[in-house]
Amino acid sequence: MGQLRHFVTPLHQATTRDYLARMVDDKVHCMKVAKEYGPDYWDGDRRYGYGGYSYMPGRWKPVAEALIQTYGLVAGSKVLDVGCGKGFLLHEMLLLEPKLQVTGFDISEHGMNSSTDLVRPHLFLHKAQDPYSFADKEFDLVISLGTLHNLRLFELKAALFEIERVGKQGYVMLESYRNEQELFNLQCWALTCESFLDEGEWIWLYRHFGYSGDYEFIYFE
Ligand SMILES: C[S@@+](CC[C@H](N)C(=O)[O-])C[C@H]1O[C@@H](n2cnc3c(N)ncnc32)[C@H](O)[C@@H]1O
Repeated sequence: MGQLRHFVTPLHQATTRDYLARMVDDKVHCMKVAKEYGPDYWDGDRRYGYGGYSYMPGRWKPVAEALIQTYGLVAGSKVLDVGCGKGFLLHEMLLLEPKLQVTGFDISEHGMNSSTDLVRPHLFLHKAQDPYSFADKEFDLVISLGTLHNLRLFELKAALFEIERVGKQGYVMLESYRNEQELFNLQCWALTCESFLDEGEWIWLYRHFGYSGDYEFIYFE
């Protein structure tokens, strides 16, 4: 079993969120719109998702540095990002190590089309739960950030199997909770989440579905 990491937690904790306001703002409608992962989700009103997500130089740099250092990535190392969104993390990784071979995929065309010129050529449309057209252990590292809680249990089984299969090392970060308050906050805030599981359930599920890589949870405190 992999290790618990804290690469993204500082970034996540830097944002303030009004949980109750979101819950009473026609949330069922907002969830339906968000789950299309279209322009509204990324660059529309905050009630549908990000509320405008442009490339901010350096924002993902600490995470990129941690990944490169922790997983021993060097020129020529291959990295796959499952649910890469706009690919800004891969962009930062390339700035730090331009000879990395990065690949990312996502179900959001708008997300990937809004990526940077540096990363866009390395992105393609694909679902995390569908078979990956890559060889066993083809990648030095497979990462997935903020994506897998958006899958249902049977989809998670398929996605985790593929992540484990194609990567020599793995790092998965997703939304979870440790107590009733955080469950409530998550239920208020989450627009696209399908699997509301606490940290113990996620770790059980990783073992049960054969995922042996590292993991991180973000919480809504
Ligand atoms: C919170 S965003 C995270 C994006 C990116 N990983 C990041 O950290 O900036 C969630 C992402 O999951 C993607 N997604 C949701 N369901 C997916 C699926 N079944 N397969 C692949 N990507 C999916 C969405 O399109 C979106 O890009």
